[in-house]
Amino acid sequence: MLVGNKVRLRALEKEDVNNCVRWLNDPEVIKFLYMNSPLSRAAEEKWIENQLALPPSNGQVFAIEALVSDHWVYIGNTGLDKIEPVNAQSEFGIFIGEKTYWNMGYGKEATLLLLRHGFEDLNLNRIYLYVFEDNLRAIAAYKAVGFVQEGLLRKAVYKNGRFNNMLLMSILHSEWKGY
Ligand SMILES: CC(C)(COP(=O)(O)OP(=O)(O)OC[C@H]1O[C@@H](n2cnc3c(N)ncnc32)[C@H](O)[C@@H]1OP(=O)(O)O)[C@@H](O)C(=O)NCCC(=O)NCCS
Repeated sequence: MLVGNKVRLRALEKEDVNNCVRWLNDPEVIKFLYMNSPLSRAAEEKWIENQLALPPSNGQVFAIEALVSDHWVYIGNTGLDKIEPVNAQSEFGIFIGEKTYWNMGYGKEATLLLLRHGFEDLNLNRIYLYVFEDNLRAIAAYKAVGFVQEGLLRKAVYKNGRFNNMLLMSILHSEWKGY
C-alpha cells in the first residue's frame, strides 16, 4: 500500500471490475482516454486478470482511494506500464472515474505517490506520459508535480471525431522534488 495524506494506492482487485466498467463507459471520463468503443464487463475482467498475471517488473496498476471523513473511497486507477529495466523508464497513466472527486487535488497526490514509488522503490530514472493537447486539467496536474513537455505528436490519435495532437511529458529522477 502506498499511503499519502488524503490518497492511498492499493493493488487493483478483481472485485473492482464493476466500478471500472461503470467509469470506463462514462463519456466524460473517457473523453481523453484511448477508448473508442463501449467496454463490456467480460473484457474488463479479462484485462484485470491479465494485469494481475503480469510480473510487477512489467507493469503495475493501482486502485486510487481517497480519504473522506474517516474512510477510504475507491475513485479511480493509476499505474506504471511498459517498465523497461535497462532504460529504467516507464509510462504513467491515471483516471479518476468518480467525477465528483475531480479538481480536489486527488489526481496530483496519486501521481506524487506513484512517482515516489517509481523513483524510490523501482529505481526508475524517467517516467513519461502522453496526454491530449486539450486535456487542460490533466496537463495542469502533471506540471504541478514536475512533469515537463518534451514533445508534441501531431494529429497522433483519432478521438472525438478528429485527429488530436498529443503531448509527450516526462520527469527524470534528478528533477523530482520528492513527495
Ligand atoms: C486528469 C485527472 C487525473 C486529474 O486529477 P484531479 O484530481 O481532477 O486533478 P487535481 O485536482 O489534482 O489537479 C487539477 C489541476 O488542474 C487545474 N485545472 C482544472 N481545470 C483546468 C482547466 N480547464 N484549465 C487549466 N487548469 C485546470 C486545477 O486548478 C489543478 O491545478 P492546481 O491546483 O495545481 O492549480 C482527473 O481529472 C481525471 O481522471 N480526468 C479524466 C481522465 C483523464 O483525463 N485522465 C488523464 C489522461 S492523460
